[in-house]
Amino acid sequence: MSASSPHASDGVLLDANLITLNGDAGYGVIERGVLAWRDGLLDFVGSRAEWDRVGAHDERATRVQADGQWVTPGLVDSHTHTVFAGDRAGEFEQRLQGVSYEDIARAGGGIVSTVRATRAASEDELLAQSLPRARALLADGVTTLEIKSGYGLDLINERKMLRVARRIGEQLGITVRTTFLGAHALPPEYSGRADAYIDAVCEWLPQLHAEGLVDAVDAFCERIAFDTAQTRRVFEAARALGLPVKLHADQLSDGHGAALVAEFDGLSADHVEYTSEESVRAMARHGTVAVLLPGAFHVLRETKSPPLEAFRTHGVPMAVATDCNPGTAPLQSLRLAMSLACTHFRLTPEEALRGATTQGARALGLADRGVLAVGRRADFVIWNIAQPAQLSYWLGGELTAGVYAGGRRVR
Ligand code: NIG
Ligand code: FE
Repeated sequence: MSASSPHASDGVLLDANLITLNGDAGYGVIERGVLAWRDGLLDFVGSRAEWDRVGAHDERATRVQADGQWVTPGLVDSHTHTVFAGDRAGEFEQRLQGVSYEDIARAGGGIVSTVRATRAASEDELLAQSLPRARALLADGVTTLEIKSGYGLDLINERKMLRVARRIGEQLGITVRTTFLGAHALPPEYSGRADAYIDAVCEWLPQLHAEGLVDAVDAFCERIAFDTAQTRRVFEAARALGLPVKLHADQLSDGHGAALVAEFDGLSADHVEYTSEESVRAMARHGTVAVLLPGAFHVLRETKSPPLEAFRTHGVPMAVATDCNPGTAPLQSLRLAMSLACTHFRLTPEEALRGATTQGARALGLADRGVLAVGRRADFVIWNIAQPAQLSYWLGGELTAGVYAGGRRVR
């Protein structure tokens, strides 16, 4: 790895154990290495010896001494519902008494109860309630955050959610990628008229896209949400605008959702607990990432694991995300999601870290991050750990010693 012009870097990180993840396997460690960046991009990643050979470094560059600490790419949380109002702790208590997530949804609770709270909140209130969650994710290393709409379920409130998501990115100095999830649940005013609601969703999408609020499109394809024909219509509307798609697929039953999103060359199929091997093959053919959401699996006390071996065998990349939401995953740490992915799904700590960096970036269609390499964004985290596996090993705790996004310290 060489430098274009390291002597003119804006910043330099010295004496760091770099987990570059550069290469198909292994952590790609450079011991006592150096990172340098300019205009928000890495312009040197290598050993101290190489750095010294380049010579003549600009004295004005900010110098950070890592003193042997471990450094990874900034974490990428590729599936969240961080923007919402209220909470659903009451439903958590109900579920502990044996009532299922599906029963609660059918009785008018679940997603629709968060819709009521989110509609009632002003944009500023929604931002005030959502920011602390985004801050918590950032505090644990997240520099790229996907945020979905889907608790507005009408044009005005979906717009409000997406605007709040954009404002979170601006306020925290991290990348926020927005996903329009109008097809999340059927709002009460469309009761019994799901097809008419999908018509409305397909009409809102171009408007929200024209306002610069939509980076991707998602839907919830499930027996308590929308069927494959309805999902297909949403995807066609996205395709007409050139927008990439992803899907809440096969979470509670095998609805062939993963195969459907693959057919649209989708970025990712998410949850995927009930995905069949045939659908896994379709994902592999179309480069669709499997986004594993062990937080929802854990909270719902699910027992059916995603088909990990099939993903590995067929070469489907696996991302790990929090799914941060008030119902199935009140989870505000991507590291904890990594840990749950290891414990429940038997990912290796290395797979979990790749899932929360390289593959997370892929699930968002972002080729400019997720590894430490020259030309990639200078998004990185300095960790207080003694070895890489500790990132998935500790449950909780404050492990970040510094978080940088685009070469700027954001924490
Ligand atoms: O990813 N499955 C659908 N959507 C969310 C849950 C949203 C909610 O319950 O509020 C999920 O698990
Ligand atoms: Fe989700």
